[in-house]
Amino acid sequence: MSANLRDQLQATLGNAYSLEQELGGGGMSRVFVAVETALGRKVVVKVLAPELAVDVNTERFRREIQLAAQLQQANIVPVHTAGELGGLPYYTMPLVDGYSLRSRLAQGVPLSITEIVSVLRDVAKALAYAHERGVVHRDIKPDNVLLSGGTAVVTDFGVAKALSAAKRDGTRGATLTEVGTSLGTPAYMAPEQAAADPSADHRADIYAFGILAYELLAGQPPFHGRSPHKLLAAQMGETPEPISSLRPDTPPLLAELVTKCLEKEPDKRPQSATDLVKVLETVTSGGGLPAMPAILLGGRRRLGRALLWYALSFIAVALIARAAIIAIGLPDWVFPGALVVMALGLPVILFTGFVHRGTHQALTAAALTVPSCAMVSDPPASARSRCMTIWGWSSVVMNFDQLNAGAPTRYPL
Ligand SMILES: Nc1ncnc2c1ncn2[C@@H]1O[C@H](COP(=O)(O)OP(=O)(O)OP(=O)(O)O)[C@@H](O)[C@H]1O
Ligand SMILES: [Mg+2]
Repeated sequence: MSANLRDQLQATLGNAYSLEQELGGGGMSRVFVAVETALGRKVVVKVLAPELAVDVNTERFRREIQLAAQLQQANIVPVHTAGELGGLPYYTMPLVDGYSLRSRLAQGVPLSITEIVSVLRDVAKALAYAHERGVVHRDIKPDNVLLSGGTAVVTDFGVAKALSAAKRDGTRGATLTEVGTSLGTPAYMAPEQAAADPSADHRADIYAFGILAYELLAGQPPFHGRSPHKLLAAQMGETPEPISSLRPDTPPLLAELVTKCLEKEPDKRPQSATDLVKVLETVTSGGGLPAMPAILLGGRRRLGRALLWYALSFIAVALIARAAIIAIGLPDWVFPGALVVMALGLPVILFTGFVHRGTHQALTAAALTVPSCAMVSDPPASARSRCMTIWGWSSVVMNFDQLNAGAPTRYPL
């Protein structure tokens, strides 16, 4: 079925839609851009992956999608139409003219605090609206947040729920994790969702929202780089590193909000997404600084990486100099000369690392002890000068480090 899924889908849609390119999809579905013939507009057609459809009761899936289709709110990608293709549920939605938050993160350029708060506020509004109508997302993650014209919109509402609700009787006992990442994604799963607790509710979305916020601020979610199995264990039992130590310019209110959303016990989290919106509106009113240079976010590991690159470059230059003497007859002094030039780079790297570390510590202390620069509209002179000093240093450090490490700035280390 999957090989000619596209042809079958086109045949089912008939003249109403003309399929164009396929968008890269997750494991859950196949996603196509199509033109809706009657209106001449582009839409997206999403078909449940044939592998998942085997166990799905399409009637229940249809009912859940119908519920999600009731959602009409500016930050939610609506469902246009739904149907069935030889047992595979599909639905259509508007083509969002933009890109996903995942692609934005993949650019490696940190989002500013202002941008982050704006995205989070939009996502929280979408959640608040849906939760009030009894719809839980269950798969909040950067892939399901699309950015368009300065607004964030949430897609795939109710789809993970539809899948879990639609599992046939014979497989209803299966846990979410047994069906892999399709009914939620381990990196964003609330502890109760990871444990397949049937009483998991909208507060699982609030936890996932906390992970999303953490990732936007730190550049990666908590427990990054672990296997799905270990991730699930960490979601249930491990406390993430405080966000302020990874992103020192996080406004304290926002840092506190992230920590609360990531509470293991649903009762200890903010109880509604409306609460999230309220807090985020307070954070926004404090304004925000542009993103802190990525260079300041890495801590000690950046120096280690710079030294590693330096050592590798040193060896490479030595080898090339030697080879040049032997192969093209350059004078013998070229070899020691090349080594001396390379050696001069070492103190510069060490000095940069020293300054970098001091600046990082100062920023961390500032974020934890005084309102961040971003939160103070008219800071006292001492705070103002501290902010200016930090930013002055940051440019110096950034230039030095980029010059010496030679590697593209990634966010964060
Ligand atoms: N309405 C839409 N408009 C524009 N792009 C979309 C739309 N819906 C999905 N996409 C894009 O299509 C791609 C595939 O989406 P899809 O939802 O299948 O995958 P995913 O979100 O990465 O994973 P998952 O299957 O877990 O949801 C993503 O890059 C997504 O950004
Ligand atoms: Mg998706």
